[in-house]
Amino acid sequence: MISTDIIELIFSTARIEEVIGEVVNLKKRGSNYLGNCPFHNEKTPSFSVSPSKNIYKCFGCGVGGNVVQFVMAHDHLSYPEALRQLAKKYNIEIVEKHDPEYDEKEAEKESLYSVTDLAKKFFTDELWNSEEGKDIGLSYFEERLFSKAIIKQFELGYSPVQKDAFTQHAIKKGYKTVYLEKSGLSISKEYGAVDRFRNRVIFPIHNVSGRIVGFGGRILNQEKNLPKYLNSPESDIYHKSNILYGLFFARKEIIVQDNCYLVEGYTDVISLHQAGVSNVVSSSGTSLTVEQIRLIRRYTKNITILYDGDAAGIKASFRGIDLVLQEGMNVRIVLFPDGEDPDSFARSKPAEEIRSFIKDQSSDFIKFKTNLLSKEAEGDPVKRAGLIKEIVASIALIPDVIIRSEYIRECSSLLDIKEQTLIFELNRVLRKNTPKQHREELDAAITDEIPFEIQPIENIQSIKSQEFNIIRVLLLYGNQEFTYSWTDENNKPKDAPVKAAFFVINELMGDDYVFEHPTLQKIYEHFTQAFKSQTIPEETVFINHIDPDISNMVITMLVSPYQISDNWLDKHGIFTLNEENNLKHLVISSVFSLRLRKIEFMISDIEKKLKDVKDEDILPLMKNLSDLNRLKMAISGQLKRIVLR
Ligand code: CTP
Ligand code: MN
Repeated sequence: MISTDIIELIFSTARIEEVIGEVVNLKKRGSNYLGNCPFHNEKTPSFSVSPSKNIYKCFGCGVGGNVVQFVMAHDHLSYPEALRQLAKKYNIEIVEKHDPEYDEKEAEKESLYSVTDLAKKFFTDELWNSEEGKDIGLSYFEERLFSKAIIKQFELGYSPVQKDAFTQHAIKKGYKTVYLEKSGLSISKEYGAVDRFRNRVIFPIHNVSGRIVGFGGRILNQEKNLPKYLNSPESDIYHKSNILYGLFFARKEIIVQDNCYLVEGYTDVISLHQAGVSNVVSSSGTSLTVEQIRLIRRYTKNITILYDGDAAGIKASFRGIDLVLQEGMNVRIVLFPDGEDPDSFARSKPAEEIRSFIKDQSSDFIKFKTNLLSKEAEGDPVKRAGLIKEIVASIALIPDVIIRSEYIRECSSLLDIKEQTLIFELNRVLRKNTPKQHREELDAAITDEIPFEIQPIENIQSIKSQEFNIIRVLLLYGNQEFTYSWTDENNKPKDAPVKAAFFVINELMGDDYVFEHPTLQKIYEHFTQAFKSQTIPEETVFINHIDPDISNMVITMLVSPYQISDNWLDKHGIFTLNEENNLKHLVISSVFSLRLRKIEFMISDIEKKLKDVKDEDILPLMKNLSDLNRLKMAISGQLKRIVLR
């Protein structure tokens, strides 16, 4: 657990434009910054960052939040994880409140990291300083034309022939065998623990922050019965599905180039780096996972996949690429000439030549797939039908409706099939992929011509609309003034300027109103507290509130001010039309609506009581009821007058 003092310190230290600026290209616009939204696909920037309020919001897709929420959403982290990440960035030391379970897990991970770090040092030391390492390991790398600098940068190493060289080294240093085994570096046998990696060159695997989580070891001679590569097993610090080899060294350049090259192996990554092309990572022989794609998406929306395989190998990877499309990223494909891979190709070529080769040779994935499959289906109508289905299935995964329709148009001409036919198939797939509960909406939206988009519906239904609305008024318009008119005791008309927040608080305090929704009540209390000193809390107090319920609620209100649609006026008597121009009406009607709801609630309460009550109690209740009904009429009357004016 992180103490509230520290959380506050993190909030006050972290600069939102700095944090977001690392992953989004932001341009200054007045006092705010503008860029392309990292959460949806867009070509014209609608993602705005306000340093003064410490908030971001996207006018395109409606997401928004404070700096911590950005890190959570963008890096897929929990609240404490995001805080930790920011603390690290700003060198804030986190003093932990005691939580034994958490401490234990962290301590365990640290033990694993210290084992992998020891192993890395051991393997590099062997490579550079032992006779065996220099003779076998270093000369192997030299043969492959790896420079000394690149070997050092990637911390490549060598594991000796002796069966337990590392294990013995670690034990001598006082490391416990449990961690040696958990990290996969040692394997225990009946006769004692031995090394996993023996007589191999070693490729340490770094996580995004540069710590070693595992290793790959390549065999040196072509012994047929041994695998070419051995890899560390999964552990608490090494989850293969969310590690990309080389990402630690590639991050900055991926942002600069706004493109991430994806290659197959360790050596491809290293050779491209050596050639000066460093926006490159590898999924290390496994098929791409969603987590890996999201790792890349933190830095760019563009992936270029560099293949050295044959058609069968490429087709096997189509499934992985579909995942990339689904994440809203743009995928391009480069095929290397026969017998070449990025590693061999990059050798002795200048970076510029490599880049322009990749640029010239790359083709868009959908087009690539279409061409590849249509060649295979030539002259075979059954295969052709299957091909159409398969290509449309890929197109259907693209989240952006406009890009989808562009592809439909293109494939229609590539395949010489009517656009209508493809659209029909697309709609069928989209409908099938849509969860049942949204299907009606979808059907209503289906036309034969345009592909459609499904919008997720935020669940604010559980919050009482009037309560939500009044807090929203306090937040959005609290500081604005309107002229309030009334008649004094001598029936003289009077008017005076009043701040919206003060009017609302004054009215609600008179009612002793308590919000049903606990978070709204908490926000309200900030306003009543401030009211005592005739002040109004700033938005930022809530946006950066350490209680995530409060910041979430407020940010929802701030970033989606039109969530309450016009027809709510009919349903709930809430005034929303042209709010800014009708501040007075909005404020007063919000108060009256809330009051009306409260009275309706009291009425239904009495009606319930009346059902089973002793005769002598009926009368006072009836009296009460008719008072309330009269009040209700009066308030609805006032409300109507306000609204209709
Ligand atoms: N791989 C693996 N286990 C194997 C073979 C391959 O884990 N038995 C992974 C490695 O991460 C490897 C990648 O798949 O880097 C690609 O395999 P391959 O092309 O065979 O290896 P290269 O990296 O090209 O290695 P080299 O150039 O030394 O042949
Ligand atoms: Mn290869």
